[in-house]
Amino acid sequence: MSYDANTYWGRQGLERAILDALAATGKDVGKLTIDDLAPADQFHSGGKSSTVRLARLAGLKPGMRVLDVGGGLGGPARTLAAEFGCQITVVDPTESYVRTGEALTARVRLADRVSHRVGDALTLDTGGSMFDIVWTQNSGMNIGDKERLYAGFARVLRPGGLLAFQEPMAGPVQPPIFPVMWAPDATTNFLRAPDAMRAMIEAAGFRATAWDDVTAELAGPSTGAAVPAHAIQRIVMGNAVDEITRAGKRNRDEGRIVMIQAVLVRA
Ligand SMILES: C[S@@+](CC[C@H](N)C(=O)[O-])C[C@H]1O[C@@H](n2cnc3c(N)ncnc32)[C@H](O)[C@@H]1O
Repeated sequence: MSYDANTYWGRQGLERAILDALAATGKDVGKLTIDDLAPADQFHSGGKSSTVRLARLAGLKPGMRVLDVGGGLGGPARTLAAEFGCQITVVDPTESYVRTGEALTARVRLADRVSHRVGDALTLDTGGSMFDIVWTQNSGMNIGDKERLYAGFARVLRPGGLLAFQEPMAGPVQPPIFPVMWAPDATTNFLRAPDAMRAMIEAAGFRATAWDDVTAELAGPSTGAAVPAHAIQRIVMGNAVDEITRAGKRNRDEGRIVMIQAVLVRA
């Protein structure tokens, strides 16, 4: 199967679907906070708490310029702005996520600190801007050319800047059970083992200061029934999330997919 981010990830009417799903839980969508939004805009294992974990691991400080690559709907970016005082540019190839992300950012009045752009991780164009932090959470799984991906991260980071990521990687038992959140089958799944990833990233000009296996800590729901209607996973994937969740539990329990949070300094 060929891969196109807009086809695989994109959805029409996403802002409306998110607001309606949150309203159904009793939220006042006229007064949403980033915590109200979190189940519906943090699209990765561990939700908002894993974003905060990674931000602390990276030691994010007010005023830091962050490029969030594959930043999706911008849930992580809004957290970094509201709780860590950072200035974030979100880049994502999925146009409906960029539009919805902009609308949600305006809704929680963070547009002065978070901007959203359409763009691909493999062809990052920052107009010459250099960032203090390149941030990426659960967004490289569909990318085979990881050497190019990480070389691109190094290119847009100032010397001494940090790469902070959370990524699923191949566990000691292969292959994974499909479908996974990012791929219905092996043709669009590009995970490598942690040791191979670390060696490749260090060869791209980084030195790891933290490399944590957070598989157990960030374990998601074990059954589809535990994924509510206002979870972004269900809003985007619909009922397919039930089988994805079953496979996800097996992938974790059987050591087929592991989750890594890491911070690396650009040499
Ligand atoms: C599971 S979502 C994670 C979104 C966001 N990082 C978060 O944690 O909320 C995966 C994201 O990867 C993005 N993505 C897929 N292929 C990409 C690429 N080539 N470059 C950048 N982002 C990509 C998708 O558009 C989607 O937003």
